[in-house]
Amino acid sequence: MAHDFEQLTQYARSFTHLTSEDEALLKEVGATITPHLKSITESFYIQLGLIPETQPFLEGRVDSLKAMHTQWLESLFTTEFNASYTEHMYKVGSVHVQVQLPVEFMSGGMTLINDQLIPLIINLFGEDTDKCAKILSAINSATGFSLLTMQQSYQEASIAEELEKFLKISGMSRVLFSNLAKAYNN
Ligand code: HEM
Repeated sequence: MAHDFEQLTQYARSFTHLTSEDEALLKEVGATITPHLKSITESFYIQLGLIPETQPFLEGRVDSLKAMHTQWLESLFTTEFNASYTEHMYKVGSVHVQVQLPVEFMSGGMTLINDQLIPLIINLFGEDTDKCAKILSAINSATGFSLLTMQQSYQEASIAEELEKFLKISGMSRVLFSNLAKAYNN
């Protein structure tokens, strides 16, 4: 399926209100925040470890997961939130779909990450209340943007699954279905 990642980017921006000022601010404060992100990841995995349902997905690969997840966290403070970031996060979502990670792990995981980031930002920037509030808002937008674009993969995987079921039950071939769908769209 061809995706319009530009459109998905605008859609994600409409919910998250991620502005170019937010992006510039994230880049500005990145150098101060980045040295702390490994310990944020450590706490994230401690929190995940307390949830029994996550165990099958963590066993035997915690170290590589920590590396991948830290790298993503660092990218929040360097990336442009454009169509290519959206495409990247869509693909990250697909990796989670492929390993059959339950969809609520996405929003649950992002909540845990924000929960770790909020006290860190208050510690680092709390003396300047106005700036601190702006940084928290930018981070909320950036993690929300990432969550929305990752979860899009789940939505499309579930539509594909339904179609698969329909083809099986009806005995209709995929080619016939595609031709009918094309004719309907025309
Ligand atoms: C909610 C925020 C999360 C983000 C931003 C995130 C990000 C990532 C990234 C960047 C990758 C690498 C994808 C690739 O191969 O290109 C990945 C893989 C993976 N993540 Fe996450 N993840 C999140 C939550 C979770 C949670 C909550 C779990 C499990 C409890 C999890 C389990 C996994 C697994 C099992 C893989 C595949 C690792 C492999 O290929 O062996 N992720 N994630």
